[in-house]
Amino acid sequence: MSQQVKAVVARAKGAPVELVTIVVPDPGPGEALVRVQACGVCHTDLHYRNGGINDEFPFLLGHEAAGVVEAVGPDVTGVAAGDFVILNWRAVCGTCRACLRGEPQYCFSTFNATQKMRLEDGTELSPALGIGAFAEKTLVAAGQCTKIDPAAAPEAAGLLGCGVMAGAGAAINTGGVQRGQSVAVIGCGGVGAAAIAGARLVGANRIIAIDIDDHKLDVAREFGATHTINSKALDLDGVVAAIRDLTGGFGADVVIEAVGRPETYQQAFYGRDLAGTVVLVGVPNPQMTLELPLIDVFGRGGALKSSWYGDCLPSRDFPMLIDLFQQGRFPLDKFVSEQISIDDIEAAFEKMEHGEVLRSVVVLP
Ligand SMILES: NC(=O)c1ccc[n+]([C@@H]2O[C@H](COP(=O)([O-])OP(=O)(O)OC[C@H]3O[C@@H](n4cnc5c(N)ncnc54)[C@H](O)[C@@H]3O)[C@@H](O)[C@H]2O)c1
Ligand SMILES: [Zn+2]
Ligand SMILES: [Zn+2]
Repeated sequence: MSQQVKAVVARAKGAPVELVTIVVPDPGPGEALVRVQACGVCHTDLHYRNGGINDEFPFLLGHEAAGVVEAVGPDVTGVAAGDFVILNWRAVCGTCRACLRGEPQYCFSTFNATQKMRLEDGTELSPALGIGAFAEKTLVAAGQCTKIDPAAAPEAAGLLGCGVMAGAGAAINTGGVQRGQSVAVIGCGGVGAAAIAGARLVGANRIIAIDIDDHKLDVAREFGATHTINSKALDLDGVVAAIRDLTGGFGADVVIEAVGRPETYQQAFYGRDLAGTVVLVGVPNPQMTLELPLIDVFGRGGALKSSWYGDCLPSRDFPMLIDLFQQGRFPLDKFVSEQISIDDIEAAFEKMEHGEVLRSVVVLP
């Protein structure tokens, strides 16, 4: 048996997304069927619709979601019908090199449902990040479901499934930010704001937010920025001087780049203290290149890292951050700029491009 549900599909490069009926199979071995309650609109969905990820159209968009497991395949033991879950795009496989050396947060696998969701005419859909949650129901690998406290609001909880985890994890896990450190975050959209919130959570006492948009800097203060720099009219030296001014002349211990551009990466590289850490969480496009004097890479020491999904381990990090959210110590709900219906995604893309929102979240009845 299969079910027909409403879902949002990108059929062709750059074309507006469409709300259509899709066919979702019953869960087979290792799979779970999830009734989606909320799903955030992430920049990566727009990248998919614009052909910036790959050409495997049609895409079933949406990947920042929370919902309730409706049914599981015959051999599934980790989750059960009725569980409230966040969907993750890092289902740990347990058998790759990273898993075997005890570092499942770097699991190399992409562990997704094996059966395909389809359009009514039988065309196979490519779910965004193996999830596809702008849909009333979606089919995922059971390991993509991370069980959390059902008391958490779905529209906030789902955001941990991508951007908020990526940003907070870039600070906490990848950057290893510690109490008393100085942190600069370049680019204060949803991901950068989450990096700021993460840095505050672990006790950074100087958090410098850098953006070209004053409104984003106001928002950054709400998430914990202690200082802000509007870099719109500044060149590389100007940004670096501004960061040094705020850090006793040294530069920040950790600089997080959450834009994904060579010029902001250079700001991060020179804006950190000697032996400091740069974390690249912004996603560059494949054409971008970086030029740096090799002697500076050598001479300045420290660590140059990039962060995928905040180096998170969903089973460890999602329940922990939900706990802290419910205790009022991690402002997950503040990332929800607006709640929208499933046929409003094109408008949400536009607001995102104009910098009007941190996150629009689709809420399903
Ligand atoms: N690494 C991961 O796992 C992961 C996960 C999700 C998203 N991302 C990436 O993180 C990046 C940020 O995502 P987002 O959702 O916050 O996007 P966003 O569009 O909401 O935010 C980007 C911010 O950068 C600012 N900005 C643009 N150019 C700038 C410049 N030259 N200097 C300073 N600030 C500048 C914008 O004003 C905006 O506030 C994207 O590249 C996204 O693809 C990475
Ligand atoms: Zn693995
Ligand atoms: Zn995303």
